[in-house]
Amino acid sequence: MNNTENHIYVIFGASGDLTKRKLVPALYALFVQKMLPEKFVLLGASRSDFSDDEFRSRMREAIIKFKEIDDESQVDQFVKKLFYTSISFDDEAAYQKLSDRIKSLRKEFNINGNTIFYLSTPPSLYGIIPQKLAAVELNKQNDGWKRLIIEKPFGYDLESAIQLKELLLKDWKEEQIYRIDHYLGKETVQNLLVTRFSNGIFEPLWNRNYINHVEITSAESIGVEKRGGYYESSGALRDMVQNHLLQVVGLTAMESPSSLDPIAIRNEILKVFQSLRPIKKEDVKNVAIRGQYLSSKIKGEQVPGYREEEGVKPKSVTETYAALKFYIDNWRWGGVPFYIRTGKRLPTRVTEVVIHFKPTPHFLFSQNDVCQSCNQLVIRIQPDEGILLKFGMKTPGSGFDVQNVNMAFHYSDLSNQRIPSAYERLLHDTMKGDSTLFARTEEVLEAWKFLTPVIECWKNDKDVPLFGYPAGTWGPQNADDLIENKKMTWRYPCKNLADDGVYCEL
Ligand code: BG6
Repeated sequence: MNNTENHIYVIFGASGDLTKRKLVPALYALFVQKMLPEKFVLLGASRSDFSDDEFRSRMREAIIKFKEIDDESQVDQFVKKLFYTSISFDDEAAYQKLSDRIKSLRKEFNINGNTIFYLSTPPSLYGIIPQKLAAVELNKQNDGWKRLIIEKPFGYDLESAIQLKELLLKDWKEEQIYRIDHYLGKETVQNLLVTRFSNGIFEPLWNRNYINHVEITSAESIGVEKRGGYYESSGALRDMVQNHLLQVVGLTAMESPSSLDPIAIRNEILKVFQSLRPIKKEDVKNVAIRGQYLSSKIKGEQVPGYREEEGVKPKSVTETYAALKFYIDNWRWGGVPFYIRTGKRLPTRVTEVVIHFKPTPHFLFSQNDVCQSCNQLVIRIQPDEGILLKFGMKTPGSGFDVQNVNMAFHYSDLSNQRIPSAYERLLHDTMKGDSTLFARTEEVLEAWKFLTPVIECWKNDKDVPLFGYPAGTWGPQNADDLIENKKMTWRYPCKNLADDGVYCEL
């Protein structure tokens, strides 16, 4: 449904990777589905010197290469809406030129002052661009709304995040700022809310009385690819844990919001973050494991180790794997360990939440392994999106042997409707002014606060090991030591929802 107002969408960093891989293909998908407003202009801005036509032809290629939607018939029509201006980001005069270009496009296409500014630039510019936009009054809403979209990471640590917050709030109102965390745009992440709060059967069990522990994995099979430069200043903790994984924790652990109002939902997530038990400095080595991938053979092909990747220092100590154990100190979760892990160059790409239920109080049947009576609910975010329930059944034949069986729902069975990509959903939300799926400052700051001891310890304490792991494996074995029950390990998920095991077909 098209319920967006006419506007101009300005993308800073328009010559970058995110613009071509995600943003423009997502905008094209919205265009094909008639979800863009009648009058819409995309203005790309970055340092490179392109003409409008050069930009259009690059974006045309990108739309076809990084295809979001099957229909390619309208690409030519769409690219007519694209324009480009080169900009030197810290030059004041360049913003006046930008403002003039926006004004002339407005006039040409008869669009009022509604404007979105998307910062898809290196994070070091997140403070500079909004300030300069304000200097030429491009933050003023007298002639139409102005919105600012900021990519993650919001800050580098707690201190820099506070500084950035204060800087932005000097010229922009909180409701004008949209902090994007693309995990929140994933259909299956939103489905966490629906699974939990539309089913009476889960809620009574969703607490410390019935849940033994919660495990969240976000694994990637790719390495850092061409992003070594960025990743060196980030690492797995900042790149994935501080934002994506903690947001998934928030949705898994939150109380039911009073309504679907964005503030009601964001408040409940914030409360989870405020209840995270602070990690003591001296405990970091026992509750946080870091690793870095080493060169290895994957399916017969030699792949480089992290230190051999482009843009990475030969002696880099940046982690490409991070696993944490922590607690949420509230009535629902008191005493329930949460285990989260993420890594690059793991065996497969998979993101999932696993709820491990407590065993029965007295197990009557023959038991082959420690988890014979432990039920698991696996909520698969990607790929093979769906939900898997594992429970015990009698093995046919004499005696009362129990075996675990699977009951799986695959999201693809729900309908043959295509699932919109995360960026498609979030870009459309920014056009509607719906901030439900965007992180608020307080959440971001709480997340940094929680991780500060780990960040500091990994930076300063040379005795905390950085484990190497061969590319294509499940990361450092030491991460298994985090699991309290020594007879249990992490779940080793495969591509298919129902399969698991360290050596499964990937
Ligand atoms: C990004 C990270 O935010 O998320 C990347 O910067 C990571 O390093 C990506 O690869 C993972 O996203 P997805 O949607 O593929 O799980």
